[in-house]
Amino acid sequence: MYARTFGAATQGVDGMIISVEVDSANGMPALDIVGLPSTAVRESKERVRTAIKNSGLRLRSEKITINLAPADVKKDSAGLDLPIAVGLLAAQGRLRPSVCEEFLFIAELSLEGILRSVTGVLPIALTARSKDFKKIIVAPENVNEALLVDGLEVYAPKNLIELVDFLDGEIELESATPVPVDEPEGFVELVDDFADVQGQYTAKRALEIAAAGGHNVLMVGVPGSGKTMLAKRMSSILPELTREEALEVTKIFSVAGKLPKGSGLVTKRPFQNPNHDASIAAIIGGGTIPVPGQVTLAHHGVLFLDELPEFKKNALEALREPLEERQITISRVNGTLTFPSSMILICAMNPCPCGWYGDKDHTCRCSDTEIKRYMRRLSGPLLDRIDIHIRVPRVNYEELSSKRRNESSAVIRQRVSDARKIQMRRLEKYHMFCNAQMTHALIKKLCILETEAEDLLKTVFETKKLSVRSYDRIIKVGRTIADLDGGKEFISAGHIAEAVKLRSDFEIEN
Ligand SMILES: Nc1ncnc2c1ncn2[C@@H]1O[C@H](COP(=O)(O)OP(=O)(O)O)[C@@H](O)[C@H]1O
Ligand SMILES: [Mg+2]
Ligand SMILES: [Zn+2]
Repeated sequence: MYARTFGAATQGVDGMIISVEVDSANGMPALDIVGLPSTAVRESKERVRTAIKNSGLRLRSEKITINLAPADVKKDSAGLDLPIAVGLLAAQGRLRPSVCEEFLFIAELSLEGILRSVTGVLPIALTARSKDFKKIIVAPENVNEALLVDGLEVYAPKNLIELVDFLDGEIELESATPVPVDEPEGFVELVDDFADVQGQYTAKRALEIAAAGGHNVLMVGVPGSGKTMLAKRMSSILPELTREEALEVTKIFSVAGKLPKGSGLVTKRPFQNPNHDASIAAIIGGGTIPVPGQVTLAHHGVLFLDELPEFKKNALEALREPLEERQITISRVNGTLTFPSSMILICAMNPCPCGWYGDKDHTCRCSDTEIKRYMRRLSGPLLDRIDIHIRVPRVNYEELSSKRRNESSAVIRQRVSDARKIQMRRLEKYHMFCNAQMTHALIKKLCILETEAEDLLKTVFETKKLSVRSYDRIIKVGRTIADLDGGKEFISAGHIAEAVKLRSDFEIEN
């Protein structure tokens, strides 16, 4: 007898419906799975067989063939256990095939037949809805994730026996509602806030401008000056995620298996902080079954590269595409796959190998050549994509011990959000959302300088022998400063002067 069920897998950050066709007929007893199964799916065969047996259900020894379609897609999801199990039971007449076809099944099975959670449930549920599925069956721990998609009935039986009784119509299952996630008792979330940072007004202002315009930042400063501390507070001043952005971030975290168990929507902007020995694949994404890398996990948030010159040169080079395109394309045997990677890059580094170059209380032990060589590890093309370069000096004792109350992240975030709204209105028709994205042509069109601002920029351009790219960067940052300044239509000399300082304070020779 023949039966068909529906399961799903993920491809990139999208879900894909897999149809599971099962044929069970007289012949030499066997169970074969065809349709490019990966090792995970082959293991599924053993789990499914054992789970069925341990659930007190019986499979007749027949010649069983299972086909997973479409065949040209590599399927890696343990979540195919459930549609395979249901398909087997339907093909042997234990379940009614017509009933089984109404559902999308997505869960791994334990050997006792318990439904286990899998990754990628959100993208799968989104695909299910777009393909007109009305009912989806998931493990209890995936309920909150599946419920993020409106218009789907979600059922979460505990185990295979309960599912079989439900499909037989012997028991009713309520369609699931959100499951409260319990926080550990006495749990107080510590949030990193800008109010913790004493002094450092220039650095804080630079990060505010970066957050407002979506600009990438390089911070250079001696050890202990607070670079890491500042960077870690960056996501606290970015505007809150919109529902649409939150869904995109949740999809990525779900596919990457990084959603905390039982959780639903990710509501915080991501902050990714890879180690310097991270491989290209870890940073950019990839692998035989491509998984998102750090640039994608940082989508809509911050990618922080601390101690920048320590990173592998080829990993830094590979950042060019995601920084430029806001997405990363990964080549595979059968076609390419695209992951989103729209993030703010924050980099931090010491000014020299020993760390103390330029500090007033310490002596730098490095030669000029050593310092030059250290700086040259950063490639020109990477630096070209960083709009803001600042020096972060150590705060002095008075500042550090001052009892003055610092501005909180919430206050800064409000200004950032207001400036973003202005940009979104201006850039919407170009499908952009922040100033950092503007091309040379768009800068010419949208950034109008007052006469004094023009004069100032001309002087700077000539005396500092700026490149066209540096010139564009100054105007872009100037545009953001004007947006923070109540959304001034024209960029003033004051705005340009501040933008110039955010570059020339520290120019690395490319
Ligand atoms: N401006 C500051 N305000 C408050 N604490 C600071 C400040 N600068 C440094 N610190 C303290 O010094 C520690 C080291 O700073 P860190 O961010 O690790 O420096 P860096 O990354 O520049 O080496 C921080 O964890 C913090 O406790
Ligand atoms: Mg540090
Ligand atoms: Zn030094």
